[in-house]
Amino acid sequence: MKRKIAVLPGDGIGREVTRGAVEILEAVGQQFGHDFEFHFGEIGGSAIDRTGSPLPDETVEMCKSSDAVLLGAVGGPKWDQQPLHLRPERGLLKIRKDLHLYANLRPISYYSSLSESSPLKKEIIEGVDLLIVRELTGGLYFGKPSERTTLDGKEAVVDTLFYQKSEIKRIIELAFKLASTRRNKVTSVDKANVLESSRMWRETAEEVAKNYPEVELEHMLVDNAAMQLIRNPRQFDVMVTENMFGDILSDEASVLTGSLGMLPSASVSVDGCNLYEPIHGSAPDIAGKNVANPMGMILSAASMLRLSFGLEKEADAVEKAVQKVLDAGLRTGDLANSPIRGVSTSQMIAEIKAALLDQE
Ligand code: NAI
Ligand code: MG
Repeated sequence: MKRKIAVLPGDGIGREVTRGAVEILEAVGQQFGHDFEFHFGEIGGSAIDRTGSPLPDETVEMCKSSDAVLLGAVGGPKWDQQPLHLRPERGLLKIRKDLHLYANLRPISYYSSLSESSPLKKEIIEGVDLLIVRELTGGLYFGKPSERTTLDGKEAVVDTLFYQKSEIKRIIELAFKLASTRRNKVTSVDKANVLESSRMWRETAEEVAKNYPEVELEHMLVDNAAMQLIRNPRQFDVMVTENMFGDILSDEASVLTGSLGMLPSASVSVDGCNLYEPIHGSAPDIAGKNVANPMGMILSAASMLRLSFGLEKEADAVEKAVQKVLDAGLRTGDLANSPIRGVSTSQMIAEIKAALLDQE
């Protein structure tokens, strides 16, 4: 069976790490006899340079006709002065909307060989295994109006936090489903002491919980959640939250694993064509230097194998290969607090590939 994968490398280190994911997928294809067909498209700054748009229609069409999408990262100082609607990040928001990607799943798990790379104490992070379920198509990032305005002749500005109840219900239901395959606990994160949207969020969580009697529901205010993630992260199983809270909390949670460069994500589509991307951005400070950590991207590809294609043992093989090079002490710069051997992006990719092909 042929599987069509749309590949959108994007900008900066997005391009460097995406190359790695494709190489690893090619190796998986070779090793396990699968036919992956890659189609490359532009998004972000590189698309702006070529076509004037951060997300050309041809990219959207290509993604829609694919079985899954792999995305690197977009953005960079070169495009920072563009008006908002012409910034690379608009391409990102638009592709989420166009592909109906309503949920972003961000698993955060502890790697024992990386305990020295996290600024947090080993006693705190040991055994962490949590999943952040972030709503992706609503909230402040999409609400209208979002504009500069005036009030009584004075400069002002407005952004809008908007949700349809059905969107809230859909994401919370997914969180409960996922929790019932894990440790049966959902922490719903909101700001219900201040925001009306959060009050509806909380009510909806209570309604959904009735259908999942085996899953424990707890509510937590987002400011407390930010603190608890660092104080006692092991208390969490599945955390579900709205778009911006999820964006911020998941960057914070990345510190638990040692580096932003380690974290994969999967964005689930209503239509079945999911998108997989690392949670980091284009990292202009290290772009082009061949030092980025490709693991978040490669683990995102593993997650594609599992969730989009049902290739469980192939996904396991990629994750084991990553684990093996970490256990062997190989580290890119972001993890190298006490490196046994510091390696470049391309060396890291080659080592992961070798570890993959080495498995029987
Ligand atoms: P960033 O995630 O690109 O970088 C934050 C810090 O982490 C930097 O010091 C960077 O060097 C480091 N880092 C990130 N990924 C790494 C990796 N794989 N290996 C080693 N170190 C890594 O976030 P920043 O700097 O705030 O944003 C840079 C650009 O990326 C901006 O234009 C932003 O809008 C965009 N961005 C794009 C995202 C996406 O495409 N999904 C997500 C987040 C930001
Ligand atoms: Mg972010």
